[in-house]
Amino acid sequence: MEKREELYTGKAKSVYRTDDPDRFVLLFRDDTSAFDGERKEQLNRKGMVNNRFNGFIMEKLEAAGIPTHFEGLLSPVESLVKKLDMIPVECVIRNVSAGSLCRRLGVEEGQNLTPPTFELFLKNDALHDPMVNESLAITFGWASADELSQMKTLTYQVNEVLKSLFDAAGMLLVDYKLEFGRSGDKIVLGDEFSPDGCRIWDKATRKKMDKDRFRQGLGNVIEAYEEVGRRLGIQFD
Ligand code: TMP
Ligand code: ASP
Repeated sequence: MEKREELYTGKAKSVYRTDDPDRFVLLFRDDTSAFDGERKEQLNRKGMVNNRFNGFIMEKLEAAGIPTHFEGLLSPVESLVKKLDMIPVECVIRNVSAGSLCRRLGVEEGQNLTPPTFELFLKNDALHDPMVNESLAITFGWASADELSQMKTLTYQVNEVLKSLFDAAGMLLVDYKLEFGRSGDKIVLGDEFSPDGCRIWDKATRKKMDKDRFRQGLGNVIEAYEEVGRRLGIQFD
């Protein structure tokens, strides 16, 4: 496999073509952004930590029968993935109230949400990723009703797998965002799963161990990501 030209660069990752038209290389950079790119910083080791973290989680999900684009680690900061036709709608599940849910509904942070909530957001930084719904997604052609239904089912399946994984390691999976794409006629999990796109709290102390440390200026961002990883059994260099 040969890495070719850069196809796309996002806020924290870049995508490269390869000599195989159906496979891309994902490069996890140290760049960290919040508030739809308004705040940006380089955090040493983040690329490596998130690449390994994502690889570990994607393998757990595959093992549980959830189709993902992940094919394997290529280097400390690169992974090989299947090419997907990405759907521009983000799926968010919340087990505990935090973030935009609290701001939007005036709900107090830290309440258990039973059953867990499911929300859709349009992937559009310029519009600050507005909340959308199935009807809008279908009318504007972002995804079909059948695709949205598969995305929802898969997002809940991911919740079952990851909630227990984090729980067994003394952590609470508060919420997370997933992105999906099409591979032939199949809906496949794409993008990444890392502490950049989810909220994780220590079960006993409720200490924040995810990107909220960056968003809220709490410090020790990557130290917290690494601690989450180590508790799950991930080896970092
Ligand atoms: P929110 O509370 O800001 O709506 O985010 C819910 C969860 O989804 C949180 O773990 C962060 C993640 N998320 C992203 O990583 N990127 C996004 O664009 C959105 C909308 C959510
Ligand atoms: N991922 C988005 C950004 O980088 C939103 C966030 O995490 O606050 O701007």
